[in-house]
Amino acid sequence: MSDPTPAHSIETMLLEERTYPPPADFAAQANARGDIYDVPFEEFWEREGRERLTWFEAFNELYEWEPPYAKWYLGGKLNVCFNCVDRHVEAGAGEQVAFHWEGEPDGETRTITYADLQRDVVRFANALKKLGVRKGTPVAIYMGMVPELPVAMLACTRLGAPHTVVFGGFSADSLSGRMNDMKCEVLITQDEAWRRGSTVPLKKVADEAMADAPAAKSCVVLRRTGNDVPMQEGRDHWWHELEADCSDDAESCPCEPMDSEDLLFLMYTSGTTAKPKGIIHTTAGYLTGVAATHNYIFDLKPDSDVYWCAADIGWITGHSYIVYGPLCNRTTSVLYEGTPDFPDKDRWWSIVEKYKVTILYTAPTAIRSHMKWGPEFAQQHDLSSLRLLGSVGEPINPEAWIWYRENIGADRTPIVDTWWQTETGMILITPLPGITTLKPGSATRPFPGVDAGIYDEQGNEVGPGGGGYLVLKKPWPAMLRGIFGDDERYRETYWSRYEDVYLAGDGARIDRDGDFWLLGRIDDVMNVSGHRISTIEVESALVDHHDVAEAAVCSRADAVTGEAIVAYVTLKGGADGSVEKLEELRNHVAEKIGPIAKPANIVFTPELPKTRSGKIMRRLLRDVANNRQLGDTTTLADPTVVSEIAKRATEEKSEDA
Ligand code: PRX
Repeated sequence: MSDPTPAHSIETMLLEERTYPPPADFAAQANARGDIYDVPFEEFWEREGRERLTWFEAFNELYEWEPPYAKWYLGGKLNVCFNCVDRHVEAGAGEQVAFHWEGEPDGETRTITYADLQRDVVRFANALKKLGVRKGTPVAIYMGMVPELPVAMLACTRLGAPHTVVFGGFSADSLSGRMNDMKCEVLITQDEAWRRGSTVPLKKVADEAMADAPAAKSCVVLRRTGNDVPMQEGRDHWWHELEADCSDDAESCPCEPMDSEDLLFLMYTSGTTAKPKGIIHTTAGYLTGVAATHNYIFDLKPDSDVYWCAADIGWITGHSYIVYGPLCNRTTSVLYEGTPDFPDKDRWWSIVEKYKVTILYTAPTAIRSHMKWGPEFAQQHDLSSLRLLGSVGEPINPEAWIWYRENIGADRTPIVDTWWQTETGMILITPLPGITTLKPGSATRPFPGVDAGIYDEQGNEVGPGGGGYLVLKKPWPAMLRGIFGDDERYRETYWSRYEDVYLAGDGARIDRDGDFWLLGRIDDVMNVSGHRISTIEVESALVDHHDVAEAAVCSRADAVTGEAIVAYVTLKGGADGSVEKLEELRNHVAEKIGPIAKPANIVFTPELPKTRSGKIMRRLLRDVANNRQLGDTTTLADPTVVSEIAKRATEEKSEDA
């Protein structure tokens, strides 16, 4: 493993001494107040489970911990869709808006109340039943940010069918890989999606994926852009036709009682090998965890807040904090289909003004884009409705934190910097906005009922001022229940370094006040725009190209995306690279994985730096990519290789400019 505390992060930490105590008026009305940190672990989660969810049958045991596997709320029966939709309608909140949906093409909007949502979900669940979907049927969903995406997810949960949502930017290979791993029988997609004024051909990609996914017998296609797409007779069904004769009466399709530990969904994420891991999330613990954190961290007031998590539902952030947590808490949310800069760079701020958004949750990479565009776009709009801001996905640099607070939050709103992962399901390290004194760049404290720590190499807990590996010492309700079909990888990845302690894969430091500072990944996982991509995944995509002999991938720091991908490529027969070849390789990676994995830079080199035993020295490549002085080169088989690469990298950069 590499050094968990990169020097630049330590520097940031030493320089950053500004603090922001919670405003008195915020503190006085906050959902999390007083002694919340003092409530004992078991009491906290027992209460959250009982009070936050509606159960068909109460649980009789809080949790069972047989490392590395946990179960929560044992013996309970419940349904996620019931908790997110039906119970709110039954309680008289049917007319409350669940989603203010804003389409990307300007002017297109839809207002969806909880009663509408229930009707839409019931009708679509009945439609899925016609295709044989029932409790336990695995379903894949490949859609853009349209209201039908949460409808499809909720319809699955209503029937007890586990889903995997695949982000609409992934390639056919990525989609079929996930579908095959989970053995999905149905795929739900749409004709095309809107993105920055052009269309993304989702059905076309879905067709390619279906051809490689033999278990998938049916495909449901939502009409979104209305452009022509080929439909395969007998296999493909238009969403609106399939549900045309289906009842939308809740009684026609009751919510399936599920066991607390039944599979809710898989979410695939990159690890240190080429194959993404299917992270398992189950029913009761996940829902309790996301609803509790959403309530306390975002201080959600269901009757007055307009909450907007500007992530994509295709990632874990969207699952936990657009769909399941917020709906469980009867939130009124904004759902936006498009990009922040379409038709212009003030689009987000016009949405905040239009819907009087009170809580905004986004990622540092987005904040840095807005920073780059300049504050004038935000200044064109009235953002005074905002009372709380959030950040997620990667470490937020203090400069971006301050910009966010001053330019979006009028130097008034607290910012919650929330650390968590696909695997953790819910936020684990975070401020509580009415309690915590904030420090720009620090995610501050473990959430109540979460036992996090920082360990050194030997497994000793480091004290204030120390750095090391972030670990979780106790299970938590929304934790992953394993990697789908791969017990060994689960044990190896998270549980092999320290006994019965979860290794998050992030480096961290703890300061004198006990606040946590996250320092980024310690493994070969990159974080580009808040998205996890493994170096090995990109390397395999590159060597899959017929001209590539060898490739090594690492990341470099980037002012907007956090990290950017740099690939070092040796062509077959020692051929020289060209600008055309470079584009061809970038597109090849986009085709194999998706556009998010396209290398920002490719350096062609006749050889890669290797140790005498043949291991590629990525550390040196990272030094070159980041213009750092080269580290120890004494173990290199051929020390001249790196200087040659450094020379070529410099040439490539000056060509860029
Ligand atoms: O490195 C951490 C970083 O994102 C990783 C998790 O990525 P993913 O599973 O894709 O989930 C992203 C959304 C939850 C972590 O291991 N990360 C996430 N949030 C933060 C963060 N790093 C620093 N600060 C954060 N607030």
